[in-house]
Amino acid sequence: MIIGEAPGQNEDEQGLPFVGKSGQLLDKILESVGLSSDRHVYISNAIRCRPPENWTPTAQEIEACKSYLLEQIRLVDPKIILLTGATAVKALTGDKRGITKIRGQWIEWEGRLCMPIFHPAYLLRNPSRESGKPKWLMWQDIQAVKQKLDELEGENNFLDF
Ligand code: URA
Repeated sequence: MIIGEAPGQNEDEQGLPFVGKSGQLLDKILESVGLSSDRHVYISNAIRCRPPENWTPTAQEIEACKSYLLEQIRLVDPKIILLTGATAVKALTGDKRGITKIRGQWIEWEGRLCMPIFHPAYLLRNPSRESGKPKWLMWQDIQAVKQKLDELEGENNFLDF
């Protein structure tokens, strides 16, 4: 499962998360490790509605939407949750640290495995693929995610057998 911040204009118009430019980049990132946003991932946002003028959601707005998000997580029961950007991290876990500090690190929330990652919009503003830059770091993170997913799948197959 991937949790973003809030719908943008395209998402608001279509009623679907991550269908604009950020979503297209997110799809590419997932595809780079053989994952498809249609088949393997459930995508949602911390906030249900587009904040006026695209402002960063307030604590009150996050709180107002939180029960929806928690119920989605309960129903989807994802193996892994990716939190794109600081707002998603704050909304779910309450951790207020900057995303550059915590991205790429596995954290446990309510017994679930989560990883904060950069928001694709941030990568669109920082397009360099040079080693150590945000896009390169995202490449490291998504590979770690795929590796963990494969490990978890392996465990499940073993249990099924
Ligand atoms: N940015 C987000 O955080 N979520 C979306 O759905 C689209 C853009």
